[in-house]
Amino acid sequence: MKNILVTGCCGYIGSHTCVYLLQENYNVIGLDNFSNSKREVLDKITIITGKKIKFYECDMLDRDGLNRIFNDNKIDLVIDFAAYKAVGDSVINPVKYYINNVSSVLTLLDVMKDHNVKSLIFSSSATVYGIPKVVPINEECETGFTTNPYGTSKYYVENILNDLYKSDNNWSICIFRYFNPIGAHPSGLIGDEPNGIPANLMPYILKVASREFEFLNIFGNDYDTVDGTGVRDYIHIIDLSKAHICGIKKLEKEKSGFYIYNLGTGIGYSVLEIVKIFEKVNKVEIPIKIANRRDGDISICYADSTKAKNELNWKAIYSLEDMCRDSYNFMINNKNNF
Ligand code: UD1
Repeated sequence: MKNILVTGCCGYIGSHTCVYLLQENYNVIGLDNFSNSKREVLDKITIITGKKIKFYECDMLDRDGLNRIFNDNKIDLVIDFAAYKAVGDSVINPVKYYINNVSSVLTLLDVMKDHNVKSLIFSSSATVYGIPKVVPINEECETGFTTNPYGTSKYYVENILNDLYKSDNNWSICIFRYFNPIGAHPSGLIGDEPNGIPANLMPYILKVASREFEFLNIFGNDYDTVDGTGVRDYIHIIDLSKAHICGIKKLEKEKSGFYIYNLGTGIGYSVLEIVKIFEKVNKVEIPIKIANRRDGDISICYADSTKAKNELNWKAIYSLEDMCRDSYNFMINNKNNF
């Protein structure tokens, strides 16, 4: 498997994965519609790797555009990152989310089938577990009961992929359930740059560090956790991206199959712990205010990633200190955008 189509190649996870794919000598064909990413990311990937993605500006709902890409290139495997991911927005605009996150995958799968390309790595999320009954969460834990349309869109696609595999065992499908990716490439060239006011913790902390925002709102300090604030499994974007190389190798080896893996570190950190480590590593103060709990938030969520370790030989190696340092470095390098 040499020719990899990456959808959403300029986004946060897509761009980092492209870097490691190129460094591992894969030919990367990328598509993006820049709905939540920037064109300049393409140049930055080239600066880091010295290599180029064969890029197509294309929307995943554009069947003709997709057909053109598959006609132009002998694609071996698709990694599908292209999706909307803002939880709050998904509550306000559910139809937009189901069209963009579900219909687009259906179009992609149909086009893949037409071109006899049946290998796919799909970006899912720990959000499919809804409110976890136990932690750490392993892949056998129940999914569904998602708390927002974004999460439900991922849950639906997982089920569609399962049905697809049941209907035709020639498919090889790997679903990755990401926990909380943070950090950035150590070059400081690419990182998480959400449009508008960030909903996620680390991009918000960076806005406070850059003094664009005065303080961080901590959503609740009365959870049943170490210090009352929410606990999550933060994973360095580098570790997360590299898992996709392991996924390709797995699908190549097994020829066909349906696989699901959690990608996390297995360690939970609270919001206050993150703030303290961020301040210490970067020698910068992050003023905080305790605010009400955020609707739909859960108390504790962290992964059991043993399956990925055993079956993919993958393990997260970067520490929270690394994640905080690299996130900050990205902000410093891109001050104009913060
Ligand atoms: C959320 C989504 C998840 C998505 C993930 C990454 C839900 C239920 N889950 O996860 O589907 O995959 O983002 O995009 O919404 N926090 C603050 N102040 C802030 C921001 C966050 O205190 O300004 C706290 C939150 O309450 C939480 C922790 O920080 O305890 C992490 O929040 P966040 O980064 O938004 O990720 P999740 O809610 O875990």
